[in-house]
Amino acid sequence: MKNITNICCIGAGYVGGPTMSVIAQKNPHIKVTCVDLNEARINAWNDDNLDNLPIYEPGLAEVVKEARGRNLFFSTEVDEAIDKADMIFISVNTPTKTYGEGKGKAADLKYIELCARQIARVAKDDKIIVEKSTLPVKTAEALKSILHNTGNGVSYQILSNPEFLAEGTAIQDLQNADRVLIGGDDTEEGREAMQQLVNIYASWLPQERILTTNVWSSELSKLVANAFLAQRVSSINAISELCEVTGADVSEVSRSIGMDSRIGSKFLKASVGFGGSCFQKDILNLVYIASSLGLQEVADYWEQVILMNDYQKHRFARKIVKTLYNTVADKKIAFLGWAFKKDTNDTRESAAIYVAEKLLQEQANISIYDPKVKKEQIITDLENLGTLDPEAIHKRITVVSNPYEAMKEAHAVAILTEWDEFAAYDWQKVYDNMMKPAFIFDGRGILDLKNLTKIGFQLFSLGKSNTAVK
Ligand code: UDX
Ligand code: ADP
Repeated sequence: MKNITNICCIGAGYVGGPTMSVIAQKNPHIKVTCVDLNEARINAWNDDNLDNLPIYEPGLAEVVKEARGRNLFFSTEVDEAIDKADMIFISVNTPTKTYGEGKGKAADLKYIELCARQIARVAKDDKIIVEKSTLPVKTAEALKSILHNTGNGVSYQILSNPEFLAEGTAIQDLQNADRVLIGGDDTEEGREAMQQLVNIYASWLPQERILTTNVWSSELSKLVANAFLAQRVSSINAISELCEVTGADVSEVSRSIGMDSRIGSKFLKASVGFGGSCFQKDILNLVYIASSLGLQEVADYWEQVILMNDYQKHRFARKIVKTLYNTVADKKIAFLGWAFKKDTNDTRESAAIYVAEKLLQEQANISIYDPKVKKEQIITDLENLGTLDPEAIHKRITVVSNPYEAMKEAHAVAILTEWDEFAAYDWQKVYDNMMKPAFIFDGRGILDLKNLTKIGFQLFSLGKSNTAVK
């Protein structure tokens, strides 16, 4: 098999964009073209001003600057890129289905299928197809069937190469990955295709971190890794409530259990709830697969991780309402943060959306500040819930670019994302300009409890019992 010299990636989103940027940076001899149907997104990837890249990710602009125009290209010419490529990554979105069988649980594979049909129509020579999107187990089989039955007689090898990057640290996660997983067929052609992909990653990662497995193990491992991580967050969040009603402090509990090397210190931070495009979707996938195979106890076990997460978001919103004398109607509540975590402009499944939903149903006015999320996105997130009157959203939501303005004359401040800058604000100034009593609800445990209490705030911090607000 000839060496790979031309790669195409279908989908220039949070996964495709950063991944291809790093692959191109580390493999200057390979031409990498990232294509997308969304012209505005591609224009933003090609913008001379790197501040306008469609995705905010620390370190990404530098990588794009180095590789773009050299061997990294962004384009809307999907057919042309497919035709020229030896290896095609599929990195399109796979949201949870919002209709039909499996609604609310199964992954919607229509974008994947469209890609497969497009590849089958265009390809004139042999290709290696790499699944990069998070997909339910056995998607490779579906891809194979479409490609082999509708193609021009060319031969395809299908690899699964799940993405483990976390947003906000994507570049670091790619450049210094704990492991890369490559699943393929245990045939001569399959092993050869896997080796081609191994070679690409081996340009910057040590061989021992590149694992090869069968396709199903690779696909399932991705879901399981996310399910385990999310389970840790739900576990510590369950403990956060227990801490609030006993004398314990969740950060002390996290620290002490995290020092047990069998448990480990990561993913033990109590929060208002996990978000992002992967955790919920992947667990729902796992639940759906288990229950369609008749493994109801397995399905129920994993579903509880999601139920705990929903509970945490609702509990936080209820705490705000209850503390503000059981009514937030027409009161101004300031939100600091809208993204699902710091250092990203991604808002998919962000806890902030669900907390806002509850408060809007209680007729609160919400003033939002997030360093990277734009107003249009916030409005779209709320409209997409389908549970709120669009007029009420426009009337009650204000999005501002200055945090002090967001908090001015507010009855309460809620911290929804753990952006570093929030801890560094002039909280005395905030206090002076707020309604009294001035309430703060810290959903991320990032504020200095002692200092803020001294200023005069009534503070609630998740998982802490020594707060003014019980
Ligand atoms: C996740 C996986 O980490 C990554 O490997 C996979 O490829 C994609 O899904 P991501 O969704 O970008 O990445 O973010 P992650 O850092 O995992 O955080 C997910 C959510 O959990 C965030 O809302 C975060 O705030 C929350 N979280 C995380 C906590 O509440 N507490 C923690 O201790 C850790
Ligand atoms: P992820 O977080 O998985 O990267 P995104 O939604 O950020 O998800 O990115 C997926 C991208 O895939 C979107 O920009 C979307 O326009 C693109 N896309 C979906 N289907 C196709 C297709 N058939 N051809 C090209 N691009 C596609």
